[in-house]
Amino acid sequence: MSLDALKTHADRLAGGSLRSIVDGRGDALSDWVFNAAGVELDLTKQCLDPAALTALLDFAEGLNLSSHRDALLSGGIVNATEGRPALHMAYREGAKIDGSDAAELVERTQAQTREFARAVRAGEYQPSGKAISRVVNIGIGGSDLGPRLIADALAEFADGGPEMRFVASLDPSDLRLAVEGADPESILFIVASKSFSTQETLMGAEAARAWLSAYVAEDRLGGHFAAASAAPDKAAAFGIPAERVFDFPDWVGGRYSVWSAVGLSLEIGLGPEVFAAFREGARQMDTHFATAPLAQNLPVLKGLVDAWNRVALGYPSRCVAAYSARLGKLADYLQQLEMESLGKSVTVDGEPAPTAGGALVWGGAGTEIQHSFFQWLHQGKDIVPVDFIGVKRHFASEDARERALAANMAAQGAALLDGRQLDTADEGELASHKSMPGGRPSAMLLLDDLNPATLGALIALHEHKVFVEGVVYGINPYDQWGVELGKVLTTGILKGDTKEYDASTKALLDRTGFGGR
Ligand code: F6P
Repeated sequence: MSLDALKTHADRLAGGSLRSIVDGRGDALSDWVFNAAGVELDLTKQCLDPAALTALLDFAEGLNLSSHRDALLSGGIVNATEGRPALHMAYREGAKIDGSDAAELVERTQAQTREFARAVRAGEYQPSGKAISRVVNIGIGGSDLGPRLIADALAEFADGGPEMRFVASLDPSDLRLAVEGADPESILFIVASKSFSTQETLMGAEAARAWLSAYVAEDRLGGHFAAASAAPDKAAAFGIPAERVFDFPDWVGGRYSVWSAVGLSLEIGLGPEVFAAFREGARQMDTHFATAPLAQNLPVLKGLVDAWNRVALGYPSRCVAAYSARLGKLADYLQQLEMESLGKSVTVDGEPAPTAGGALVWGGAGTEIQHSFFQWLHQGKDIVPVDFIGVKRHFASEDARERALAANMAAQGAALLDGRQLDTADEGELASHKSMPGGRPSAMLLLDDLNPATLGALIALHEHKVFVEGVVYGINPYDQWGVELGKVLTTGILKGDTKEYDASTKALLDRTGFGGR
């Protein structure tokens, strides 16, 4: 099965009506709804019929998707450009990865972070004679977005743990606000950085130390810092005492690192049991991904459908609409996971990629986004597939607001699908303004309830679906060379070394009086 054959199916389906595809499923509608690990994937509103789905699955088989998956899960070198496996799954509770020494290393650091988190939560850890009441994670990208999302999503599970705050920006106000109102003697900074060489994080950590030194004696400063890093020597050189440098191996990618010591702020703020339940949910999704037939496999199906929308139907972006206030940061998290992984144009072998890479991912929290950009989704010229992420329990909730949240989500999917065609006889001259084209596909991901386990499963599902898309596009989802050039140029600008720069950039620096230091 070739890409051209897939496109033939896509042209056939795109030429008809999405409503007729959906209604045409008849009694087989439930065949398009899949369940695993407390997550339901509803693909009934996708622009796919049985023949197209079979072709898509054949296409995946032709790419040896199952063998690629088995290589990933058994520690194969799936990150070829950096010569590494991608074994973040080794951190899920109880997960055993064959063919690697991951398990022992993981167990050691998990025992260390668990004990430290317990001591902090119990008020036993007192670097300045007081219990810790606020934990500030300093990190960026994968060392920030995962902890930030999960801290928000599971805030109601914190059970009295220290407050969690996050600093990612170079803007000094970010740190200022993160420490505002805190007792400096009760604060713990966690410097999370895989490389321990990221400018934003190191400058943030230095600023935090400078701020704290106004309140805490020099010999106590180090007690207020911990680190999560794959470069423990650099963390130690920064002045963080070795017993609080929690390391992880380089085969944990930054955007896949929340399961590792990078989740320390969560383990402290939410508690080791909640953090373990989060990992256990992911482990259940790992098992499903490893063992379920491709045609029933949620990460496989989601990855293939997203690739179908991207390369067969040609839709360049996908909107993530989370109908839960607690999942308001999900789109930000998925944006890094997907776009840093799949925003590439060369194959693993360095050849021009035969297809587009992954889609642009954007979104936010419903129903708020209905009152901002949904107009564009309903009546704009571009078709954007939408993922609705919601909570199944809300549909039958006793709480009227939860039921309204679920009803809004269902209504938006129906509106995108069907649109509305009005005629002037009924609506007068505004008929065309009030009409909507419809024909816009969506998927729904429903968590049985929002809890640590289902959240873990939801994130693992997306990690694996990114891998599946990587196989379809033929690219390496685990490197990110594209972010390097900007870092190099920033260093040059800061040093005042701008002679090779373009006329526009030079003029900007002159005009603004920028002084290299
Ligand atoms: O943006 C590039 C990147 O390397 C991401 O992949 C990573 O998550 C982020 O920077 C932070 O890196 P580190 O954890 O090494 O500080």
